[in-house]
Amino acid sequence: MERRPLLAGNWKMHTTIAEAEALARAIAQTAIPADRDVMLAPPFTALAAVGRVLAGSPVLLGAQNVCWEEKGAFTGEISPAMLQDVGCRQVIIGHSERRHIFGETDGMINKRVAGAARFGLVPVLCIGETLEERESGQTFQVLERQLRNGLLDIKLASGKELVVAYEPVWAIGTGKTATVEQAQETHHFVRNLLIDMYEKNIATQMRILYGGSVNPDNVDALMSQDDVDGALVGGAALKADSFCSIINFKKSA
Ligand code: PGA
Repeated sequence: MERRPLLAGNWKMHTTIAEAEALARAIAQTAIPADRDVMLAPPFTALAAVGRVLAGSPVLLGAQNVCWEEKGAFTGEISPAMLQDVGCRQVIIGHSERRHIFGETDGMINKRVAGAARFGLVPVLCIGETLEERESGQTFQVLERQLRNGLLDIKLASGKELVVAYEPVWAIGTGKTATVEQAQETHHFVRNLLIDMYEKNIATQMRILYGGSVNPDNVDALMSQDDVDGALVGGAALKADSFCSIINFKKSA
């Protein structure tokens, strides 16, 4: 099954509106190979401005989180309808910083996935183990719990309606990337879980991104793994030249 690679930039809590516009413009102006998708997830405050910059370009707009309700008394939250209103097509959910710094639970993340899906946004569901969990041999158990709980009662008609991002917590922002063997082994495990949870043609169509210190030097090897279908990039997505190199990855074998 050929899956269209997705290269996604998670800008986290970086960029003023002017900085976001300049970065988005630089990325949208580079030649993006026609066989892959690119998504930018700026902070909420810059979504509208970046959406305007990206209008007419193939680069997709994404958000970094979403509430499950359409509107109401949910101070500090942003609804799926609001994200649609600014032109978002995808939304990152369950990022490790949301889980570990802000205490988001699998249950909350499941509600966010359901809310996004109900409004036609593609959830990019992030899962990943901590160093302690990896070293104590619990990686697969943790990933299975996060995936099954995060996707509880989520029905999919196609594998294009959801993206999974495997991001080992110990590799995020640390410069310590998973080895290509670790990435492939884990992605393969996640793929098999998805096959168990959904119809095989849906699970094999779904993209599984790797995230955690992806940079222009390691992207080719990571993208050459059978079950690595893209990258969720933090630090290296904040500079146009490094993110554009990542977008232009070449499979090494
Ligand atoms: P990083 O972040 O590329 O800076 O490690 C990845 C992420 O958190 O999505």
